[in-house]
Amino acid sequence: MSDPREALEEREERPRRPRLAWALTGSGHDFLACLEIIRRIGELDLFLSKAAAEVIFLYTRERKPFPSGIRLIRDTTASAPPVGRFYDGWYHTLVVAPATSNTVAKFVCGISDTLVTNVFAQAGKCRIPIIVYACDTKPVHDSMAPHRMVRLWPRRIDLENTARLKEFEGVTVVEDTAALAAAVDARLAEVAREG
Ligand SMILES: Cc1cc2nc3c(=O)[nH]c(=O)nc-3n(C[C@H](O)[C@H](O)[C@H](O)COP(=O)(O)O)c2cc1C
Repeated sequence: MSDPREALEEREERPRRPRLAWALTGSGHDFLACLEIIRRIGELDLFLSKAAAEVIFLYTRERKPFPSGIRLIRDTTASAPPVGRFYDGWYHTLVVAPATSNTVAKFVCGISDTLVTNVFAQAGKCRIPIIVYACDTKPVHDSMAPHRMVRLWPRRIDLENTARLKEFEGVTVVEDTAALAAAVDARLAEVAREG
């Protein structure tokens, strides 16, 4: 068990300008394509679900898969103290990509019992724009398992949850990595214009 005092310490400095917050879940679907976008952006805070912390290693085999401009926030606590950063203006946007069917189900039910579901709920309550790449958007898709491609048929509940997420105010749901990259770039350009 981690030391709760450690989690409560604010060891990171508040950035001079609001940054992008990105939440990574334990979905292998387009995981490497999402990592590429993250590495290209370079400056962001990356919130990892416990499953994401495992899946990264399965897909990259790298102990340090991110450049130094990317700050990692891991899921080590029950109350998710890092969400306080959303109240304090640290972030202009939240991206959740790729999002597992598990995390999307929790989002649409209003459950906040992990770091990523807390980040989503608090970003929503702070009216921070959110972009979600939900993996279960089509009745059938091919997905990269760590060593081979697999064909998957998302269940009706998974597709229904994605459809419900599209109705959330302030949330843009994208269905592939090209749309994800376009939505993130458009939002970063908007933030840059606003100064
Ligand atoms: C290699 C690997 C790939 C996975 N890919 C997916 C996926 O594409 N979609 C999905 O919904 N779950 C996938 N999972 C299962 C999730 O990691 C699991 O449901 C986990 O509990 C999700 O936790 P999270 O939503 O908090 O990240 C995968 C698991 C492993 C080990």
